[in-house]
Amino acid sequence: MRYAIAEEHEQVRQTARQFAERELAPRAAEIDHEGRFPWENVESLRKYGYLGMNLPEQFGGGGMDMLSHTLVVEEVSRVCASTAVVLGVHNVLFGETLSRWCRDPVRGEVMPGVATGERLGAFALTEPQAGSDAGAVVTTAVREGDDYVLNGRKTFITNAGIAHWYIVCATVDRARGARGITAFLVEEGQPGLSFGKPEEKMGIRGSQTADVILEGVRVPVARRMGEEGEGFKLAMAALDHGRIGIAAQALGIAQAALDASVAYAKQRVQFGKPIAELQAIQWMIAEMTADVEAARLLTYRAAELAGQPGRHSADFAMAKLFASTTAMKHTVNAVQIHGGYGYMREYKVERFMRDAKITEIYEGTSEIMKLVIAQSALR
Ligand code: CAA
Repeated sequence: MRYAIAEEHEQVRQTARQFAERELAPRAAEIDHEGRFPWENVESLRKYGYLGMNLPEQFGGGGMDMLSHTLVVEEVSRVCASTAVVLGVHNVLFGETLSRWCRDPVRGEVMPGVATGERLGAFALTEPQAGSDAGAVVTTAVREGDDYVLNGRKTFITNAGIAHWYIVCATVDRARGARGITAFLVEEGQPGLSFGKPEEKMGIRGSQTADVILEGVRVPVARRMGEEGEGFKLAMAALDHGRIGIAAQALGIAQAALDASVAYAKQRVQFGKPIAELQAIQWMIAEMTADVEAARLLTYRAAELAGQPGRHSADFAMAKLFASTTAMKHTVNAVQIHGGYGYMREYKVERFMRDAKITEIYEGTSEIMKLVIAQSALR
């Protein structure tokens, strides 16, 4: 029996599945192959209301809950994981954070374009020396009158050079460590803002990843998000919810690998019968099925907890850890089931394998997820 979700959520899933199959699937292999940003997919996401689906209705967003968002990210990832990360970063890391932390009147001015997806967002925390150790940010923000002046370099930023808005974490006082980190809203086109060249990646090759370079970028005080020193908490809270999205992305990729493996095992004949009749294959399919279902339970539970009071960092970390491990392990198995064909570009399982790897790394590595879970278990 499948985990039962409410009728309204099942509707969201069905609609998202049809959307993904019709609008995204036909271009997924080509986007991966060419490593180009999927503008047509972004336009489709915008048209069907998926960009901003989780943002407040008062600003033109869809006002939908985290479970609905999770289902959409899962279904999009099932066909195109590159498109899923563009969606997840815009809606959650950027959009939800903007809606929670940006003050009026700036929030009222910026949110409508974000909630309707006309203006894409990015989230710039990571630096060359501040990856897992996110508190080690050295990008500086120096107050000068009614402005802050930002200098530094952010690295591996999803949607860099594509987005219109950037949440940038910088320190107002390095001596204060994580407590000096402060978040700012930076706009495309501001003097001093530039981007590195897009990275050549192993997987999710359609999503654009580049450095964000800040050279004397002036940000008005009104575009500071939260108070001075609140940037680390803002970033951790953003990543808490972002990690549900990565769990959903991993889940979608793992489901796709399972679907492809089942279909292939039934039609591939060796030793005079479909390989699905061989126990070696059956055991792989059985483990895949059980792990995918367990990842689904953890991910949906995390999504439901996101709407409840209190901090649930460990639950989100468990979902991301388990779903990403599942995606990696079973996309490798999917390639194995496909044999020599699985190694060829023509069969999409090799793309799933390459796409799965990043889910164990970004928005917190598996090792950081274990640290978060252990901290909670040992408290
Ligand atoms: N919510 C709110 N506050 C939080 C929090 C959370 N989830 N986690 C920690 N905090 C607070 C703590 O309460 C503490 O507050 P006080 O100073 O008031 O006590 C403060 O933040 C510092 O906490 P820690 O001492 O636990 O911080 P730490 O330096 O030990 O770091 C960490 C903890 C879990 C290792 C953290 O640095 C971390 O998550 N690292 C991974 C970074 C990461 O995920 N990067 C991803 C980049 S973005 C990305 O990948 C996007 C993309 O491309 C798609």
